[in-house]
Amino acid sequence: MKVAVVGATGLVGTKMLQVLDERNFPVTELIPVASAKSIGKEITFKGKQYKIVSAEDAIKQKPDVAIFSAGGSTSLEQAPLFANAGITVIDNSSAWRMEPTKKLVVPEVNADVLTAEDKIIANPNCSTIQMVVALKPLHDRYKIKRVVVSTYQSVTGTGVKAVDQLFNERKGIDGPKVYPYTIDLNVIPQIDVFTENGYTKEEMKMILETKKIMGDDSIAVTATTVRIPVMGGHSESVNIEFAHEYDLSEVREVLANAPGVVVVDDIANLKYPMPLDAHDKDEVFVGRLRRDETQPNTLNCWIVSDNLRKGAATNAVQIAEYLASKHLIGQGVAV
Ligand SMILES: NC(=O)c1ccc[n+]([C@@H]2O[C@H](COP(=O)([O-])OP(=O)(O)OC[C@H]3O[C@@H](n4cnc5c(N)ncnc54)[C@H](OP(=O)(O)O)[C@@H]3O)[C@@H](O)[C@H]2O)c1
Repeated sequence: MKVAVVGATGLVGTKMLQVLDERNFPVTELIPVASAKSIGKEITFKGKQYKIVSAEDAIKQKPDVAIFSAGGSTSLEQAPLFANAGITVIDNSSAWRMEPTKKLVVPEVNADVLTAEDKIIANPNCSTIQMVVALKPLHDRYKIKRVVVSTYQSVTGTGVKAVDQLFNERKGIDGPKVYPYTIDLNVIPQIDVFTENGYTKEEMKMILETKKIMGDDSIAVTATTVRIPVMGGHSESVNIEFAHEYDLSEVREVLANAPGVVVVDDIANLKYPMPLDAHDKDEVFVGRLRRDETQPNTLNCWIVSDNLRKGAATNAVQIAEYLASKHLIGQGVAV
């Protein structure tokens, strides 16, 4: 299968190449795309060198699928050019996520909504992806009424420039800043810009995307999203109110049997999910499972995942795998 990776030099794009390789996605030809400044440079994939090309040149080569992680404005401009040429786009930016005609997909939750007609498919926000993978099996079993989530998000969630800012600050170098404040040894309760209701755009993404992916507008979600000086891996403290009573040991069982979820919950041995342990893993790790003793039918938990993998690259590649396995892209290639 011919695969274009748009944004191939970025943090997500680099991880995308690694995940395509590790998961043995049947790439017969890779077409790496990046901004004008990178065209002509070479990248290595599976031991082979590939030259970075422009979007126009990539379209001419007619890839079966184009996986985008090049920012919202690039997606808005270039994804329709690929789609109009019959190429299926899987987009990591926020550009198309809430567009009613576009599907927003986390394969463990709603891959079945995809059809051959979907030419631009949106990958959700990283914090939303890891949360819904854990929420879905619980919603199916106990029906979720309300979710209160606070996030602890790493700097790789903002891209290469944010990693540079953290390292520069750590070394005492006065370099360019992508955050409005120092991030090293600090905590910034703002991710993305503020919206009119006082929530940030990241918080609104978690609220709106959760309803869309779960296909249930009745789930109430409120979010506080926070940037912390951790290199990779997002963590979330999540309070979930169910419509029905639950049994805590059954909750552990439901989560342990859910696709993509690993339960790490053994407080006697100080075992709980942490970003360093989630690094370079595809799963969503759930722990600190306990009753909210202040109200009925309510659970507290702690959810951690690698934002560059399940939060971005892995989820996108899983969508491509699903499309290929259902013969919705490519020429009936088995994955
Ligand atoms: N980081 C995460 O955890 C995460 C998670 C989910 C989704 N995302 C989304 O994924 C996207 C990329 O994030 P990132 O963290 O990888 O950012 P990044 O490290 O800053 O990389 C950006 C990439 O986009 C390319 N690019 C910029 N302008 C372009 C253009 N006009 N045409 C083609 N390529 C262009 C860059 O190429 P050059 O090297 O040539 O500049 C680079 O490859 C963003 O939309 C982000 O919201 C990120």
